[in-house]
Amino acid sequence: MSDDAKNVPPRPLSPPRALPPTRVLSGIQPTGRFHWGNYFGAIRQYIELQSVGESYFFIADLHALTTVREPERLRAFVRDAALDLVALGLDPVHAALFVQSDVPEVTELTWLLMTVTPMGLLERCHAFKDKKSRGMAADAGLFTYPVLMSADILAYDATIVPVGEDQVQHIEVCRDLAGTFNHLYGEVFTLPKPRLVEAGARVPGTDGQKMSKSYENTIEVFEEPSVQKKKIMRITTDSRPLEEPKEPEGDHLFDLFSLFAPAAEREAMAALYRRGGFGYGDVKKALVAAAADFFADARRRRAELAADPGTIDAILARGAERARAKAGDVLSRAKRACGLSRLPAQPAGGKA
Ligand code: TYM
Repeated sequence: MSDDAKNVPPRPLSPPRALPPTRVLSGIQPTGRFHWGNYFGAIRQYIELQSVGESYFFIADLHALTTVREPERLRAFVRDAALDLVALGLDPVHAALFVQSDVPEVTELTWLLMTVTPMGLLERCHAFKDKKSRGMAADAGLFTYPVLMSADILAYDATIVPVGEDQVQHIEVCRDLAGTFNHLYGEVFTLPKPRLVEAGARVPGTDGQKMSKSYENTIEVFEEPSVQKKKIMRITTDSRPLEEPKEPEGDHLFDLFSLFAPAAEREAMAALYRRGGFGYGDVKKALVAAAADFFADARRRRAELAADPGTIDAILARGAERARAKAGDVLSRAKRACGLSRLPAQPAGGKA
């Protein structure tokens, strides 16, 4: 090699490829206190993903309005939800944490999406079908719930939506509506993807069905340890004799224990199941202890935060400001695209 050639820096083979921006978004309803299903299916993912890109997490009070009809209870649930999320590790330095109704741009966007929503699509949504089949009054709010949820997601150009399994169908609806809108008006919306974690995608309740407030089978993250213990001790189990070996996989008590136990303890418990000669009472006691341990720090942080209400108010106000800035851009992009604004559509690539 000549001396000249040695002085030339090596040329990169191809320019580095820009990765698409990651925007994480999710919402949670303040219809009661958070339970283990909310935590292991969703909240734990929020915390894990909050600093991988821009992130937005909100308390879905507009959705909750379809079930909570007492204003004071709703206000209290919203406040508790914010406290719980921050105590569990949601960091407002990374993530915008806000209340859904503080961003009115989303309800305006809901209408735009409503005009491209086929009725049949909503009729097929299982959350609606399920509630209706249990005799709950089905108002238009409940029926069009997935459209509001779609606006929640699309308003922030979200790319990843961490959720439990029960929300996947709603995210498919969102992709569908975004696709139709884009087909009609150009590339307006970013299509999001759901993100699930296998172990927590469908946390069972005390009766083995999906843990859900509507099934009254929940164990709450921050309820009194004595109440938690009572619920755990009442978890339904089968009535096979003590000596009989049992298969741990698919046993909901084992599944709940597995959420908290490190891998080695989980394996040891699985071996105990397969060997037989133990009582479900022992597993329940182990679960009580593991859960208490797991949430001990969060419980302490929650007590500290609760003593300082101004902090949560400031976090929510700052979160709403960040959220509104982003949602405002997306809304005006959508309005221009469909002819609601006197301004012409933004050229392709005008996406924020
Ligand atoms: P919500 O409030 O019912 O539940 C909040 C989150 O908790 C998850 N989850 C579970 N995960 C695993 N096992 C369970 N047993 C369990 N129970 C609940 C849910 O899947 C969810 O991720 N429609 C949403 C709220 C919402 C939203 C959004 C979510 C409104 N707009 C936009 C994402 C994006 C709901 O009712 O979640």
